[in-house]
Amino acid sequence: ALPRDLEGRRVVVSAGGTREPLDPVRYLGNRSSGKQGYALARTAVQRGAEVTLVAAATVSLPDVAGASLVRVGTAEELREVMHRTAADADIVVMAAAVADFRPTDRATYKIKKTDRDPDPIALTRNPDILAELVQSRVNGQVIVGFAAETGDSAGDVLEHARAKLKRKGADLLVVNAVGEGKAFETEDNSGWLLSADGSERAVALSSKSHMASDIWDAIVALIEA
Ligand code: PMT
Repeated sequence: ALPRDLEGRRVVVSAGGTREPLDPVRYLGNRSSGKQGYALARTAVQRGAEVTLVAAATVSLPDVAGASLVRVGTAEELREVMHRTAADADIVVMAAAVADFRPTDRATYKIKKTDRDPDPIALTRNPDILAELVQSRVNGQVIVGFAAETGDSAGDVLEHARAKLKRKGADLLVVNAVGEGKAFETEDNSGWLLSADGSERAVALSSKSHMASDIWDAIVALIEA
């Protein structure tokens, strides 16, 4: 049986990948399936937490029993819901893959194919939701970020991730080495857990539920410290 060590804790988990529309039928997106975020939400419910799952483009995943679900599309929508729900959460976990940029213009009608060369797509920077949540953190709240990194070696990946943890100011950063067939859309995940206090731990390749349990163990350890 799982420990009930999240009993009475209010948890918000974001999952999936945002979609940034170009026109009514097309978008810029990413390969996040939402599986890792859903596994985190499911495990938190099982460990006794009151869970809100904020899901971006995860239509094919079955709902998490016992969690309240809020669906979002764009990074702007995710931002609005995260700020609202984080305001009275004890723990916030940003597992969603958020688009860093969105098309500057959203066409009202489907963009037509013409004989001339297409116009380039102008992009506008999206806000960094995780960094904002850290800025508006309420007392004692634990904030967990993820990092999807590509690199030639574990050393490269960790170096980028340590800098990201500092820059964003989260309490814990879950680092996934991504790339061909890794982390996105798969059943298994692996990586490292980096804490703001400098402690680091590798998580061997295992199911996303197993990874979720390890992440919650690390969060509970932070709360108890
Ligand atoms: O969904 P799956 O298919 O199961 O795959 C899981 C996963 C690989 C997507 C997941 O484990 C993961 O790594 N998610 C974060 C991916 C990501 O967007 O990483 P990043 O390095 O771009 O962002 C770093 C952190 O900042 C993340 O917590 C992200 O949610 C947050 N962020 C990023 C950009 C932005 N504008 N706002 C943010 O809050």
